[in-house]
Formats: sequence, structure tokens, C-alpha cells
Amino acid sequence: MTTPIDFLSNRYSCGKLTTPGPSESELEQIIDVGLRAPDHAGLKPWQFIVMTGQGRERLGDILAAAVAVNTDDSAKIEKARNMPLRAPVVVTVIAKYKEHAKVPRIEQVQSAGCALFSMQQAAQALGYGGIWRTGDLARDRTVKAALNLDSYDEIVGFLYLGTEQQANNCRKALEKETIVDFWR
Ligand SMILES: Cc1cc2nc3c(=O)[nH]c(=O)nc-3n(C[C@H](O)[C@H](O)[C@H](O)COP(=O)(O)O)c2cc1C
Repeated sequence: MTTPIDFLSNRYSCGKLTTPGPSESELEQIIDVGLRAPDHAGLKPWQFIVMTGQGRERLGDILAAAVAVNTDDSAKIEKARNMPLRAPVVVTVIAKYKEHAKVPRIEQVQSAGCALFSMQQAAQALGYGGIWRTGDLARDRTVKAALNLDSYDEIVGFLYLGTEQQANNCRKALEKETIVDFWR
């Protein structure tokens, strides 16, 4: 039996995803886990847009339109349009900034990042693969406007979820000494 600590230690991402994706009820479970992200002052500075089916095409149209602002290269535009079709589910996770005397914007962005990552882990716990993606389009003004975001909001990532097409690509743990200091 995989223990919780084994599960967390062996977590990995998978970019090669296919159908089936998490069902509606599994998506509810995944979202509930995301909503348990640490949240200073209880601001809930999050928005999750859960895109399935044609909802992914809607995101693809937004990404394609953003690319088309800067180029008329149809290959680049179509590449962007097809990005969300790389998995059956894409959850766009947004930090919705809320001004607060004790909670700076960075903490709200971190909280949204925690929500995204905990949803990735939740999906993996249910047997699905996933990957956190961003890229220039996550920071693109046209994309943000199309999602009705304010300039202080942040798309922290696109969480792609589905069934893994390839076996686990679990990377080895890094050399801990390059990262970790113990102060005893
Ligand atoms: C904020 C953030 C943005 C990322 N954006 C991308 C991305 O756009 N494309 C990509 O292939 N991987 C991206 N990654 C990396 C993958 O999510 C993943 O962590 C990486 O492939 C390593 O795999 P692992 O999680 O199995 O160690 C991003 C990770 C983070 C934390």
C-alpha cells in the first residue's frame, strides 16, 4: 500500500495526457482540495476556470487571438489554438488580487499556486496525470482581458489533467545538499 508520505515523495508531472479525464464528480473532489489551499486572512484570492470539452476550444480561441496580435504566422496561431486540447481537462488558476493591509499580492499569488499544485496532487491521488503549465500567454494582456481579469490579477497556471499516455517520468530527487541547509 502506498502511504501518504510515499505518494508525496514520488509525485511527478506528466505532459502526455489523453482521455478519460477526471469525471464531473472527481473534478468536484479535486476542486475541493484546491479550495483548502493556505489562505492568509481568508481572502480566497482565487478563481478556477474548469475547462472541458468545447470549453477548452474557447480557451484555444483566446490564446490564438492573443498570438495573432503579434504575428500573422498561421502556424503559430494554430499551435496556440490547439494547446488546450493537449488534455481532456484544463483548469486555469487565477490569483484574484484583493487589496489587504496584511496580505501583499505575492502571498495571494503563492496561495493560488498552492491551490493549483494541490489540485494536481489530488488528481494524481485519483489516478490521473497532470502538469502545471504557464508560458508567455499566461502573462499576456490580451489573454487576461479575455478572461475579464484586472491588471493585478495573475494567471498562475494552466493545470492540464487526464490519463497518462506514457509511463511515469518520475525524476530522481535532486542532490539535497545543493538546496537544503540544516540549522541545528
Ligand atoms: C509556475 C510553473 C510553470 C510551469 N510552466 C511550464 C510550462 O509552461 N511548460 C512545461 O512543460 N512545464 C512547465 N512547468 C514545469 C512542469 O509543471 C513540471 O514541474 C516539470 O515538467 C518537472 O516535472 P516534475 O513535476 O515531474 O518534476 C512549470 C512549473 C511551474 C512551477
